[in-house]
Amino acid sequence: MYKYGRPLNFQRWLDDNAHLLKPPVGNQQIWKDGDFMVTVVGGPNQRSDFHDDPIEEFFYQFKGNAHLLMWDRGQYEKVPLKEGDMFLMAPHTFHSPQREENSLCLVIERQRPKGQQDALQWCCASCGTMVKRYEFQLESIVEDLLPVYERFYSTSEAERTCPNCGLVHAGRDFQTWHSDLNKAHKL
Ligand SMILES: [Fe+2]
Repeated sequence: MYKYGRPLNFQRWLDDNAHLLKPPVGNQQIWKDGDFMVTVVGGPNQRSDFHDDPIEEFFYQFKGNAHLLMWDRGQYEKVPLKEGDMFLMAPHTFHSPQREENSLCLVIERQRPKGQQDALQWCCASCGTMVKRYEFQLESIVEDLLPVYERFYSTSEAERTCPNCGLVHAGRDFQTWHSDLNKAHKL
């Protein structure tokens, strides 16, 4: 009758899963098979990829701070997600969440309808030009992203060279990418 179980206590769930809400795992999905993919995402987490989601995403930053680095047609913007903030993001808003240590965020997405593809994209830290983009049909939010990262990380420097300005994308080294971004932009 209750496909996803009886109501559960959120704080108890957080306590039971606390060890998974930090590196190296960093996130957990509460109900595995629902149409709503309800996850809690912890910090610290820094990344250099931008997620192009074909559906809306809801964020509730209920503990600690984070920010979303946004990319829009070559322009970067930093959107703070401060403790207590809620944010509903429209489909195809390119975002890269950056999370502080001990922070927790409730994220709600939906299963993707067949044919509506997600993409992960990597962009030039200096001039904002798209360097690589991979599209895929997301079925599991836990399993489908890692292979895309690995695909990007295994590219050569030539493949990661910005076609506009020639800067080599730092690839797996997200710290260098962020430092290149900070050198080129005041965000
Ligand atoms: Fe560039």
